[in-house]
Amino acid sequence: MKKLALTLVLVLGFASMAFAGWDKCQGCHNGKTAGDKAALTAKFKTAADFEKASMESKSPMMKTAQGNPAEVKAAAAELGLK
Ligand code: HEC
Repeated sequence: MKKLALTLVLVLGFASMAFAGWDKCQGCHNGKTAGDKAALTAKFKTAADFEKASMESKSPMMKTAQGNPAEVKAAAAELGLK
């Protein structure tokens, strides 16, 4: 029974990772490498602004995010931007 529960947790964990928005950004957007949640929501008032800035960022570290607009959109929604 314990094994089953553990497997379930792992499977659900991986499944939710596939849909993760902000989770994928947090590694860098932690207030050290790049602006964190508070900094970004203070700077960008709308999802459109946020998505535009993501796409236009000159940082090479943003390349992966830029190749995945759906991820950026999901992150914007998670940050509560509309
Ligand atoms: C590999 C590290 C990394 C990942 C992952 C990452 N970013 Fe970034 N991002 C950066 C860096 C570095 C900058 C440039 C420094 C800055 O502007 O804070 C940046 C800049 C930005 C900016 C512009 C900030 C500004 O003030 O102009 C936005 C918006 C942004 N990222 C959104 C995202 C979103 C949304 C995701 C997830 C889908 C994401 N980033 C994932 C490293 C990353």
